[in-house]
Amino acid sequence: MILAEENMIYEGKAKKVYQTENPNEVIIYYKDDATAFNSLKKGTIVNKGILNKEITTIIYEYLNTNGVQTHLLENLSDRAQRCKKVDIVPLEVIIRNILAGSTAKLLGIEEGLELNQAIFEICYKKDELADPMINDYHAMALGLATREDLDNIYAQAKKINELLQEFFLKAGIILVDFKIEFGKDQNGNIILADEISPDCCRLWDKDTKKKLDKDRFRRDLGDIEDAYQEVLRRIKGMV
Ligand code: TMP
Ligand code: ASP
Repeated sequence: MILAEENMIYEGKAKKVYQTENPNEVIIYYKDDATAFNSLKKGTIVNKGILNKEITTIIYEYLNTNGVQTHLLENLSDRAQRCKKVDIVPLEVIIRNILAGSTAKLLGIEEGLELNQAIFEICYKKDELADPMINDYHAMALGLATREDLDNIYAQAKKINELLQEFFLKAGIILVDFKIEFGKDQNGNIILADEISPDCCRLWDKDTKKKLDKDRFRRDLGDIEDAYQEVLRRIKGMV
């Protein structure tokens, strides 16, 4: 499959998006580039694009079977998917089941605390400011989303979290936290877009608590590709 550069409409840190002949569809191409800390750290993870595309596909098919609408239409190659074209809601939605990362730091609590209930956070997608955390009032006041949009997004995020916690646990993995993005399709429906992969989740082995996600890259822990491979190996064939 040849993706012509003149059809590329967006290039992000980990993916490229190409316009297709159908105005309502795009092709998403997964790269091996890896960044962390808002691009302060840059590198590549061998085969990451292939692994993340495959992992996202399995997860999105599972979610779709369980009533969550996603942008994914079809797999085209080892790195490319045909997806519905959406207008991305400029919010990163973070769901935490176990305290880790930036919120553990923010609250001065050690990583690993099991939370009484999930924490839902939203961040404004603004690279220049490293995606600052905001609340619903900021989002509504800035016109990023309406109350109705936010209620819809939180309800979907809650459902996705419940489905994914169960899914990963069956694979011997704890879903510590993850980031998702939503987009509006041509009919104005808010659907799950972007990806769900070890790049945007914290995944710990249930027994050893070994990190099987991008924290291995962020924190220079080594064996990054192996960890992503391990996630794929465990979830393959589960749906
Ligand atoms: P954080 O603890 O650094 O805020 O990250 C929370 C979760 O969100 C973690 O699973 C990693 C993911 N994440 C992204 O996917 N992209 C980002 O830009 C950031 C900051 C976090
Ligand atoms: N995706 C973000 C970055 O590129 C941060 C992260 O995943 O840690 O810098």
